[in-house]
Amino acid sequence: MCGIVGYIGPKEAVPILLDGLKKLEYRGYDSAGIAVLKDNKIQIKKRKGKIVKLENLLEKGAPKGNIGLGHTRWATHGKPNNLNAHPHNGCNSEIVVVHNGIIENYMPLREKLISEGHNFISETDTEVLPHLIESNYQNDLTLAVKESIEEIEGSYAIGVISTRDPGKIVASRCGSPLIIGVGEGEMFLASDIPAMLNYTNRVIFLEEREIATITKDGVKIVDSKGKILEKEIINIEWDVEMTEKSGYKHFMLKEIFQETMVIRNNLEGRINLTANFLELSEISFPLKNIKEIEKIFILACGSSYYTALVGKYIFEELTGIPVEVDYSSEFRYRKILLGKKDLTILISQSGETADTIAALRACREAGSYILALTNVRGSTISREADSVMYIKAGPEIGVATTKAFIGQLMSLYILSLYFAQVRNTINHTEIKKIIFELIKLPQLVEIVLLKEPEIIKLSEEFFNYHNFLYLGRGINYPIALEGALKLKEISYVHAEGYPAGEMKHGPIALLDKTFPTVAIVPKDKVYTKVINNIKEVKARDTLVLALATEGDKEISNIVDRVFYMPQTLDILYPILSVIPLQLFAYHIANKLGCDVDKPRNLAKSVTVE
Ligand code: M6R
Repeated sequence: MCGIVGYIGPKEAVPILLDGLKKLEYRGYDSAGIAVLKDNKIQIKKRKGKIVKLENLLEKGAPKGNIGLGHTRWATHGKPNNLNAHPHNGCNSEIVVVHNGIIENYMPLREKLISEGHNFISETDTEVLPHLIESNYQNDLTLAVKESIEEIEGSYAIGVISTRDPGKIVASRCGSPLIIGVGEGEMFLASDIPAMLNYTNRVIFLEEREIATITKDGVKIVDSKGKILEKEIINIEWDVEMTEKSGYKHFMLKEIFQETMVIRNNLEGRINLTANFLELSEISFPLKNIKEIEKIFILACGSSYYTALVGKYIFEELTGIPVEVDYSSEFRYRKILLGKKDLTILISQSGETADTIAALRACREAGSYILALTNVRGSTISREADSVMYIKAGPEIGVATTKAFIGQLMSLYILSLYFAQVRNTINHTEIKKIIFELIKLPQLVEIVLLKEPEIIKLSEEFFNYHNFLYLGRGINYPIALEGALKLKEISYVHAEGYPAGEMKHGPIALLDKTFPTVAIVPKDKVYTKVINNIKEVKARDTLVLALATEGDKEISNIVDRVFYMPQTLDILYPILSVIPLQLFAYHIANKLGCDVDKPRNLAKSVTVE
């Protein structure tokens, strides 16, 4: 959580810091602040609330200077207010720090520093850092930072400036991402790539416990032992337009409408259409090992966990390999029973989710081969996994994931089909048939998106309800979970996702005419079963909205409202059913006047445990 930006160069720092903060606002928006160093003085400005509040403050008078740090906060220790907002400084305003992460031993450090005469003003864990650096400072800021981070436990990404050692920004990370941008005679620092795309797409990824000393002309990076490192500068393919709203009211809506593109991106270069053959050169897992896999563990959090559940159905159906799915946050504390021939797949849009990183490390320790599905090149997960399959969604800014969900599903389809091909678990005619349907998907998604006006009408009808039940069965059960999550996270309306067949074991008690049900009921192999479940719901006077397959006349006699999806293969329906649910949640939230891209209490990547 939290976003860090930094600038050092010939230009005024404030506009660049503000621009970067706006690009990182998805990481947290409880408060924001900047610090600018000039003429041996550091000026700090900070405000509770979204970045616009800080911007308004700066309009009344912004500090001048060419070196600065900025921060947008997602509160962990200490409530969101001006005092707890970053940057934080030491006793004499000579050392200023922005921090992302949690310092777990901050209490004893704080007590020790107070006993030495340091004066604390906030409730944050972060505030120990400037004081610690101040107390370790001799005559070299980098050295003081190095000694200080040796004393702290927990996770951090930090940027530090000081009047005692001006002309540099010192940065380090452990468990939270930090990237250095390389410009011409200027350098940047940020938690994530979008913050610097306006200025450079040449970046260096800091690794765990590395320390960077950044001047306007370059950067010197050392490891935790002080050894100088030669780091590769990576060219990022994303451009700044990808991080703009491009005329849409919200990023979330833009991102939903980019889903056809995400599907095409995922198919491109992975399917040989002449031979109807999958080519997955990006996976370095040896073919021999694919043939020998005995079990797959898929680990993820939030919506990525739901794509993992869909993945279970697909892998088991196509490859016959048993799949176990778990939340990373649960798995990491379980007894890890990974066999030598088991494969671990981690799914994470950001590649920075703390629990998924911890699960990765636990699996690595257990000796498992690790394949990551992620969107972000250079992210911690992409760097630590043995193989990476990129989900090719492009930058996702809306806090509620949409297009990355589609990218993850597409990658899972392609990966499982590839495994099926290698293991010969389905014949070539079947592979050809699935490839044919995969290629049709962009067209089918286009049809669903063109029906947005129908969803708008439905949202107008349903936006006043306070509770919803989402039902799905088989491969669409995880989509019911995702539909419910989308609604609750952006509109704050209570919604429960449930397997349709399980509903009568409890949740049915909730149902009455105030509690509508959204049922995913495509014409697949469990169709009649779901119809029976819907009848049970209807018998309780509940309003039912169904997502059904085009041409299904029967359903319209049973439910109150129907949204029709085009016909596809059973295993591909999750792609077509999740999109109307994303749009439904979006339009309800929009009607309720919610800040769709920045839902309360949430942040895009959860980099703390
Ligand atoms: O970056 P990740 O895919 O690891 O993130 C996982 C979850 O934090 C994320 O999917 C979250 O649930 C979103 N708010 C869903 O919209």
